[in-house]
Amino acid sequence: MGFSELFWRDVCRVTKCLYAQPLFHLFAGKMSTTDSFLKTEISWEDDYRDRVNPRLITELMHRCVPAVQACNWQVIAVEEGYAETLLPLNQATTNQHGTHQAALISLSADYTGGMAIVSLLRGVPMAGIHKCSTKEAASLWLAAMNVKYKSPSTGDLIGRCRINDINRDKILSRYSQGKRVLVTLPVIFESNGEIVAEAEMTYFCQPAIQLLEPGKKTSTLFNQKIKASARMIAGVRAKAYFTENGRNYRVDSAHTEIAAGPQGALLAEKLNRALPQLVEMVQARTQHGEELIRAIPRLQQVVNMGAGLDMRPFQLQSAYPNLTHFDLDLPEMLHERDRVAALIPNSSNVNRISIPADFLNDQVDELLLKNGFDPTLPTAIIFEGCSMYFSSEINRRMLTAMGNLLRHPDSRLWVDFVSESVFNGQTQIPEVLEFLARMDDLGEAFVFGCDDSARLSADCGMQLVESLSVREFYNRKGKPSQDPVLDQYSFSIFKQADDQ
Ligand SMILES: C[S@@+](CC[C@H](N)C(=O)[O-])C[C@H]1O[C@@H](n2cnc3c(N)ncnc32)[C@H](O)[C@@H]1O
Repeated sequence: MGFSELFWRDVCRVTKCLYAQPLFHLFAGKMSTTDSFLKTEISWEDDYRDRVNPRLITELMHRCVPAVQACNWQVIAVEEGYAETLLPLNQATTNQHGTHQAALISLSADYTGGMAIVSLLRGVPMAGIHKCSTKEAASLWLAAMNVKYKSPSTGDLIGRCRINDINRDKILSRYSQGKRVLVTLPVIFESNGEIVAEAEMTYFCQPAIQLLEPGKKTSTLFNQKIKASARMIAGVRAKAYFTENGRNYRVDSAHTEIAAGPQGALLAEKLNRALPQLVEMVQARTQHGEELIRAIPRLQQVVNMGAGLDMRPFQLQSAYPNLTHFDLDLPEMLHERDRVAALIPNSSNVNRISIPADFLNDQVDELLLKNGFDPTLPTAIIFEGCSMYFSSEINRRMLTAMGNLLRHPDSRLWVDFVSESVFNGQTQIPEVLEFLARMDDLGEAFVFGCDDSARLSADCGMQLVESLSVREFYNRKGKPSQDPVLDQYSFSIFKQADDQ
């Protein structure tokens, strides 16, 4: 494991429990008001206490990095630009195998150097470690390492990384301007007064927001991030197929399992632990969307807006061999989608048109029209699992553009929304709060919710056909529930306005 963003994301899960509210306010309020990416108005003493003190960091790491916990590895001192760690001599860290010891020293080197960098980023929450939005956070990534093992360690191993003035100035000046930092740091290991190993650790560090900026989307971190969230949804969906009236929905969940892969399965497990209703909710959304698709007479086109790793086109293939699927997503995601599709038998029989799109900037109706979409044919447009991640402005632009494509009277647009209280912080439902915290960890904070889709559709030149919450959906299916969480998520179907 590297001192990577993934690591920090794991740590984050614990931090949220440990940090009391004041730290959140500190980050949420003060930090966003300055121009620099560093928050120098926060004193070192406060920063040390709330963000980087050894006891806190050690505890966080123990809870979320099993190898570190097993070894009882500890951070024992942190100063600005300095970290000291301890890899104790104990059962877990010792055996006769050099590789075992070398691997643990490397692990320790990674975290020791990374901690030294973190200590310099005054007041900056680390992606995955502190409760924060992508807007404020730093991403840290181990790029390379070179470790020389000089002699066997025969006692507790102390790792030290002190950042020299040149590197310190470089880190501070580049990071504060929002530039990517690439820095190589020395980490020295000593045991019983003897140098045991010397490491050179190279890290990337940058404001996490830059991973999301247009034109920078091809960064490795960004690619990992979007794939992770699409895999997570696929992982949840893979758990969600079910039988009703003798019929399986998402019968080919094997496709979805392929799409999710082990990472998706793991993330789904974690998210589902936070929000046990998640599978039920995704199951309802899958089924409701599919019922719409099957209800459109002489359906000819399906548009998957933000297709991610939704395997619907492959599942529908046997029932609808002549359908044309238009898959829109970011280019990096479409690339991953193609990779997964290639693993599915006979996937090349599916008539799929992939259209790279950035919803933040592109006019999706124009893109579709340029790529063979015929708005006069019966069509289902599915905007699934997306609205909550885009601002109200982008959602309205997207909905208006999609409405322009519903020129056939049977064409429909399907959208899922979280309720307004979910995104505006008013919900008090503990499972929902826990789920939102987990989504923050993934860098997928919710920024939009809608309680009145009739009004929204009118604003966007469409007409609402149906809107129902997950709870209403299950009531209708004869599976009544009193669970208030199921009221927080709803599905809407739109069509062209009657006067058009
Ligand atoms: C949570 S996933 C949902 C995927 C799929 N609809 C499903 O239900 O499985 C959100 C999707 O939105 C895509 N996305 C995020 N930002 C985007 C953007 N700016 N432009 C286009 N697609 C974007 C992601 O790549 C991802 O595939």
